[in-house]
Amino acid sequence: MASKIDLDVRTVTSWADVEMMRRIRNSGAERYSTHREHITHADQVQWWTREAGGLQAYLFSPSDTMGDVAFGLLRYHDGVYWTTVGVLPEAGGRGIGSSALDYLVMSVAPVMCRAIVLLSNVASIKIHRLVADGGYWVHIADHVDRAMFRTALSVVAQQRRSRWLDAAGRPSGMGGAE
Ligand SMILES: CC(C)(COP(=O)(O)OP(=O)(O)OC[C@H]1O[C@@H](n2cnc3c(N)ncnc32)[C@H](O)[C@@H]1OP(=O)(O)O)[C@@H](O)C(=O)NCCC(=O)NCCS
Repeated sequence: MASKIDLDVRTVTSWADVEMMRRIRNSGAERYSTHREHITHADQVQWWTREAGGLQAYLFSPSDTMGDVAFGLLRYHDGVYWTTVGVLPEAGGRGIGSSALDYLVMSVAPVMCRAIVLLSNVASIKIHRLVADGGYWVHIADHVDRAMFRTALSVVAQQRRSRWLDAAGRPSGMGGAE
Protein backbone atom coordinates (compact mmCIF):
# COMPACT_ATOMS: atom_id res chain seq x y z
CA MET A 1 0.00 0.00 0.00
CA ALA A 2 1.36 3.48 -0.87
CA SER A 3 2.08 5.28 2.39
CA LYS A 4 0.21 8.46 3.17
CA ILE A 5 2.15 11.57 2.22
CA ASP A 6 2.33 15.06 3.74
CA LEU A 7 0.53 17.48 1.47
CA ASP A 8 0.05 21.21 1.47
CA VAL A 9 -3.54 22.01 0.62
CA ARG A 10 -5.17 25.22 -0.49
CA THR A 11 -8.63 26.19 -1.57
CA VAL A 12 -9.16 26.91 -5.27
CA THR A 13 -9.77 30.64 -5.48
CA SER A 14 -8.09 32.16 -8.55
CA TRP A 15 -8.54 31.56 -12.26
CA ALA A 16 -4.99 30.19 -12.30
CA ASP A 17 -6.14 27.58 -9.75
CA VAL A 18 -9.17 26.71 -11.86
CA GLU A 19 -6.88 26.26 -14.87
CA MET A 20 -4.49 24.07 -12.83
CA MET A 21 -7.43 21.89 -11.86
CA ARG A 22 -8.30 21.55 -15.57
CA ARG A 23 -4.76 20.49 -16.45
CA ILE A 24 -4.69 17.82 -13.76
CA ARG A 25 -8.16 16.59 -14.68
CA ASN A 26 -7.33 16.40 -18.41
CA SER A 27 -4.17 14.41 -17.69
CA GLY A 28 -6.38 11.47 -16.65
CA ALA A 29 -9.59 12.38 -18.51
CA GLU A 30 -10.38 8.86 -19.74
CA ARG A 31 -10.46 7.43 -16.21
CA TYR A 32 -13.27 9.51 -14.69
CA SER A 33 -16.63 7.81 -14.25
CA THR A 34 -19.02 10.47 -15.54
CA HIS A 35 -17.41 12.88 -18.02
CA ARG A 36 -14.38 11.70 -19.93
CA GLU A 37 -14.04 14.27 -22.69
CA HIS A 38 -11.11 16.71 -22.88
CA ILE A 39 -12.09 19.97 -21.17
CA THR A 40 -11.10 23.18 -22.94
CA HIS A 41 -10.11 26.35 -21.12
CA ALA A 42 -13.41 27.97 -22.17
CA ASP A 43 -15.45 24.96 -20.94
CA GLN A 44 -13.66 25.11 -17.62
CA VAL A 45 -14.31 28.82 -17.14
CA GLN A 46 -17.98 28.29 -18.00
CA TRP A 47 -18.27 25.31 -15.63
CA TRP A 48 -16.61 27.14 -12.74
CA THR A 49 -18.74 30.25 -13.25
CA ARG A 50 -21.87 28.11 -13.18
CA GLU A 51 -20.99 25.60 -10.42
CA ALA A 52 -18.45 27.19 -8.07
CA GLY A 53 -21.11 28.17 -5.54
CA GLY A 54 -21.97 24.52 -4.91
CA LEU A 55 -18.43 23.16 -4.87
CA GLN A 56 -15.47 22.91 -2.52
CA ALA A 57 -12.29 22.57 -4.53
CA TYR A 58 -8.71 22.12 -3.36
CA LEU A 59 -5.24 21.85 -4.84
CA PHE A 60 -2.58 19.69 -3.21
CA SER A 61 1.20 19.79 -3.39
CA PRO A 62 3.64 17.46 -1.66
CA SER A 63 5.34 19.30 1.22
CA ASP A 64 8.79 18.25 -0.03
CA THR A 65 8.45 19.62 -3.58
CA MET A 66 7.08 22.59 -5.42
CA GLY A 67 3.84 22.81 -7.28
CA ASP A 68 0.32 21.49 -7.42
CA VAL A 69 0.02 17.86 -8.45
CA ALA A 70 -3.53 16.98 -7.39
CA PHE A 71 -7.00 18.40 -7.03
CA GLY A 72 -9.95 17.38 -4.91
CA LEU A 73 -13.57 18.29 -5.43
CA LEU A 74 -16.58 18.01 -3.13
CA ARG A 75 -20.06 18.47 -4.56
CA TYR A 76 -22.99 18.55 -2.13
CA HIS A 77 -26.21 17.01 -3.36
CA ASP A 78 -29.19 15.55 -1.50
CA GLY A 79 -27.46 15.32 1.88
CA VAL A 80 -24.20 13.74 0.74
CA TYR A 81 -20.90 14.96 -0.66
CA TRP A 82 -19.71 13.45 -3.94
CA THR A 83 -15.94 13.20 -4.07
CA THR A 84 -13.58 13.46 -7.03
CA VAL A 85 -9.81 13.45 -6.95
CA GLY A 86 -7.19 13.66 -9.69
CA VAL A 87 -3.40 13.35 -9.61
CA LEU A 88 -0.89 14.18 -12.36
CA PRO A 89 0.40 10.88 -13.84
CA GLU A 90 4.01 11.72 -12.99
CA ALA A 91 3.04 12.08 -9.30
CA GLY A 92 0.94 8.89 -9.16
CA GLY A 93 1.61 5.90 -6.90
CA ARG A 94 3.10 7.97 -4.06
CA GLY A 95 0.02 8.04 -1.83
CA ILE A 96 -1.10 11.48 -2.99
CA GLY A 97 -4.52 10.34 -4.29
CA SER A 98 -5.26 8.52 -1.02
CA SER A 99 -4.18 11.49 1.09
CA ALA A 100 -6.20 13.96 -0.99
CA LEU A 101 -9.27 11.74 -0.65
CA ASP A 102 -8.69 11.54 3.13
CA TYR A 103 -8.65 15.31 3.25
CA LEU A 104 -11.98 15.59 1.43
CA VAL A 105 -13.73 12.95 3.52
CA MET A 106 -12.34 14.05 6.87
CA SER A 107 -13.02 17.72 6.25
CA VAL A 108 -16.77 17.18 5.74
CA ALA A 109 -17.20 14.52 8.46
CA PRO A 110 -19.73 13.69 9.86
CA VAL A 111 -21.52 14.12 6.52
CA MET A 112 -21.46 11.04 4.31
CA CYS A 113 -19.43 10.96 1.08
CA ARG A 114 -20.17 8.94 -2.00
CA ALA A 115 -18.09 8.09 -5.04
CA ILE A 116 -18.57 6.34 -8.36
CA VAL A 117 -15.52 4.69 -9.88
CA LEU A 118 -14.95 2.87 -13.17
CA LEU A 119 -14.28 -0.80 -12.42
CA SER A 120 -11.38 -0.66 -14.86
CA ASN A 121 -9.72 2.14 -12.88
CA VAL A 122 -7.57 0.02 -10.58
CA ALA A 123 -5.82 2.93 -8.86
CA SER A 124 -9.10 4.63 -8.03
CA ILE A 125 -10.70 1.39 -6.78
CA LYS A 126 -7.65 1.00 -4.52
CA ILE A 127 -7.83 4.46 -2.97
CA HIS A 128 -11.47 3.81 -1.98
CA ARG A 129 -10.18 1.39 0.62
CA LEU A 130 -12.86 -0.72 2.30
CA VAL A 131 -13.48 -0.91 6.04
CA ALA A 132 -12.37 -4.56 6.02
CA ASP A 133 -8.99 -3.44 4.64
CA GLY A 134 -8.48 -0.65 7.17
CA GLY A 135 -10.20 2.08 5.17
CA TYR A 136 -13.56 3.79 5.67
CA TRP A 137 -15.41 3.04 2.41
CA VAL A 138 -18.33 0.68 1.96
CA HIS A 139 -18.95 -0.86 -1.45
CA ILE A 140 -22.65 -0.30 -2.19
CA ALA A 141 -22.99 -2.02 -5.57
CA ASP A 142 -21.56 -2.41 -9.05
CA HIS A 143 -23.59 -1.05 -11.93
CA VAL A 144 -22.49 -2.01 -15.45
CA ASP A 145 -18.88 -0.71 -15.58
CA ARG A 146 -18.90 1.27 -12.31
CA ALA A 147 -18.59 0.66 -8.60
CA MET A 148 -20.47 2.79 -6.08
CA PHE A 149 -19.04 3.55 -2.65
CA ARG A 150 -20.12 5.42 0.47
CA THR A 151 -18.24 6.30 3.62
CA ALA A 152 -18.92 4.43 6.89
CA LEU A 153 -19.58 7.36 9.20
CA SER A 154 -18.62 5.65 12.46
CA VAL A 155 -15.31 4.50 10.98
CA VAL A 156 -14.59 7.95 9.57
CA ALA A 157 -15.27 9.49 12.99
CA GLN A 158 -12.99 7.01 14.71
CA GLN A 159 -10.15 7.41 12.19
CA ARG A 160 -10.53 11.16 12.23
CA ARG A 161 -10.01 11.19 15.98
CA SER A 162 -7.22 8.65 16.08
CA ARG A 163 -5.00 9.47 13.14
CA TRP A 164 -6.11 12.51 11.22
CA LEU A 165 -6.29 15.18 13.88
CA ASP A 166 -3.14 16.14 15.73
CA ALA A 167 -3.04 16.76 19.49
CA ALA A 168 -4.31 20.30 18.95
CA GLY A 169 -7.27 19.08 16.91
CA ARG A 170 -5.89 20.26 13.57
CA PRO A 171 -5.66 18.07 10.45
CA SER A 172 -2.32 16.26 10.69
CA GLY A 173 -0.02 16.02 7.66
CA MET A 174 -1.85 18.80 5.86
CA GLY A 175 -0.83 22.42 5.50
CA GLY A 176 -4.45 23.44 5.96
CA ALA A 177 -6.65 25.17 3.43
CA GLU A 178 -6.64 28.97 3.52
C1 LIG B 1 -6.94 7.43 -9.05
C2 LIG B 1 -5.81 8.40 -8.71
C3 LIG B 1 -6.40 9.64 -8.08
C4 LIG B 1 -4.87 7.70 -7.72
O1 LIG B 1 -3.87 8.61 -7.34
P1 LIG B 1 -2.47 8.11 -6.75
O2 LIG B 1 -1.76 9.28 -6.21
O3 LIG B 1 -1.76 7.27 -7.75
O4 LIG B 1 -3.01 7.19 -5.57
P2 LIG B 1 -2.17 6.45 -4.45
O5 LIG B 1 -0.72 6.50 -4.75
O6 LIG B 1 -2.65 6.98 -3.15
O7 LIG B 1 -2.73 4.96 -4.56
C5 LIG B 1 -2.85 4.34 -5.81
C6 LIG B 1 -2.89 2.84 -5.62
O8 LIG B 1 -3.17 2.24 -6.87
C7 LIG B 1 -2.04 1.53 -7.32
N1 LIG B 1 -1.96 1.72 -8.76
C8 LIG B 1 -1.70 2.85 -9.42
N2 LIG B 1 -1.79 2.63 -10.74
C9 LIG B 1 -2.11 1.31 -10.88
C10 LIG B 1 -2.34 0.48 -11.99
N3 LIG B 1 -2.27 0.94 -13.22
N4 LIG B 1 -2.64 -0.82 -11.76
C11 LIG B 1 -2.72 -1.32 -10.51
N5 LIG B 1 -2.52 -0.55 -9.40
C12 LIG B 1 -2.22 0.75 -9.61
C13 LIG B 1 -0.88 2.06 -6.53
O9 LIG B 1 0.16 1.14 -6.41
C14 LIG B 1 -1.56 2.28 -5.20
O10 LIG B 1 -1.86 1.04 -4.59
P3 LIG B 1 -1.40 0.72 -3.12
O11 LIG B 1 -2.10 1.73 -2.24
O12 LIG B 1 -1.87 -0.68 -2.91
O13 LIG B 1 0.09 0.88 -3.16
C15 LIG B 1 -4.97 8.78 -9.97
O14 LIG B 1 -4.53 7.59 -10.59
C16 LIG B 1 -5.74 9.62 -10.97
O15 LIG B 1 -5.76 10.82 -10.87
N6 LIG B 1 -6.36 8.96 -11.97
C17 LIG B 1 -7.09 9.69 -12.99
C18 LIG B 1 -8.33 10.34 -12.43
C19 LIG B 1 -9.13 9.38 -11.61
O16 LIG B 1 -9.20 8.21 -11.89
N7 LIG B 1 -9.77 9.92 -10.57
C20 LIG B 1 -10.60 9.12 -9.71
C21 LIG B 1 -12.01 9.26 -10.10
S1 LIG B 1 -12.93 9.72 -8.66
